[in-house]
Amino acid sequence: MPSPFHFLLSLSALLAASQATPAAAADVYLTWQHDPTTTMIICWQDQATGPTAIDWQKQDQNTWRTSAARQSLLPSTERLVSQVELTGLEPDAAYEFRLAGEKKIRRFRTLPAKLERPLNFIEGGDPQDGAPMEQMMQLAASLDPAFAVLGGDLTFDDGLPEHAGRVERFFRALGRDLVTPDGRHIPLVVCLGNHDVNRAEQWIINDQSLPNNSEERRAMAPYFLASWPFPRDPGYDVLDVGDYLSFVVLDTNHLNAVDGAQQDWLRQTLATRQAVPHLFPIYHVPAYPGVRDMNDEVSKLIREAWTPLFEQAGVRLAFEHHEHAFKVTHPMRRGEKCADGVVHLGGGAMGVELRAPRDPAREPHLDKTAKAHHLHEVVLEPQRRTVRTLGIDGREIHRLEQTVSEAP
Ligand SMILES: [Fe+2]
Repeated sequence: MPSPFHFLLSLSALLAASQATPAAAADVYLTWQHDPTTTMIICWQDQATGPTAIDWQKQDQNTWRTSAARQSLLPSTERLVSQVELTGLEPDAAYEFRLAGEKKIRRFRTLPAKLERPLNFIEGGDPQDGAPMEQMMQLAASLDPAFAVLGGDLTFDDGLPEHAGRVERFFRALGRDLVTPDGRHIPLVVCLGNHDVNRAEQWIINDQSLPNNSEERRAMAPYFLASWPFPRDPGYDVLDVGDYLSFVVLDTNHLNAVDGAQQDWLRQTLATRQAVPHLFPIYHVPAYPGVRDMNDEVSKLIREAWTPLFEQAGVRLAFEHHEHAFKVTHPMRRGEKCADGVVHLGGGAMGVELRAPRDPAREPHLDKTAKAHHLHEVVLEPQRRTVRTLGIDGREIHRLEQTVSEAP
């Protein structure tokens, strides 16, 4: 394992080497590790000579403060990842920031402490690194969402040095395209997918091939874990937004087994959130496939280990990805259609090459499928939620309306 001394040496060498090259603009993106109503993590990726701190203030207050970044190398590149977490912010408030040494003013907004007016966010997966991904980021930003959720396979880097360019293109799009017309950066919540990890045969259950500790996890998902402070180690986590929204972010056999410790954690995490009106599991490989076979090993295990826990906790909507085609299931409970069951939505096709989905007429669990790039715009209200699935041209493919369940 490289020592801190070796890290400093490599950092110094990089700093010296990059003196001669002109600095490119930093790729800025936002995320959270703690309550999005009072915190924000500002991240950027750029060359080693880039900014090491930010100036920030509540909008138009003229009370600029400076916060230094934690920095680390993006593995196998000459780029640095910088992160600053701001805490103690006001809910539902606009802030502005600038990278040290830059004049450009950027903006963000904290989420409201209470859900008293409609709140919209974007959900999707499998963006990859090409032109459709960039178009979808622009479509997402045009909807002026409070934030976006991406369900894995972010860059298709597979943890490989030869794919570092894909990582760079993806973060360039986040910094350039995932910004509203008035200059507000849209925060992201992400989860792991199979292509964020360098691990063979993840579609087969083989716990022996899973990493055993943080160091092995960092080696297996070098770009994802260097770039994203959430989900925290070991790779699954929960993000609570006030008392009205929680994302339970799960790992479908990439760095962690579906059953065992993750299942125990999920059981406890859901049990304490049954009163949260908008409670959404986010994970990559589907419990209910729209392209692949229902008997695929990982999907079967998810239906055994997690789906009953979702049903017990009163979850009504789970976001799935990975399949490169749109699908929405009927509400499902114990494997059967049921009016108050869980709808499994999405197939991870924000930017990847599309696949042909199955015919709903032949699959009892499927309500609708489409071979289409898509994202979801979710609008939350106190008593209901609406999910519009939009194609890459912005046209509506599907609409789901749900009333908010009473706590079981
Ligand atoms: Fe995938």
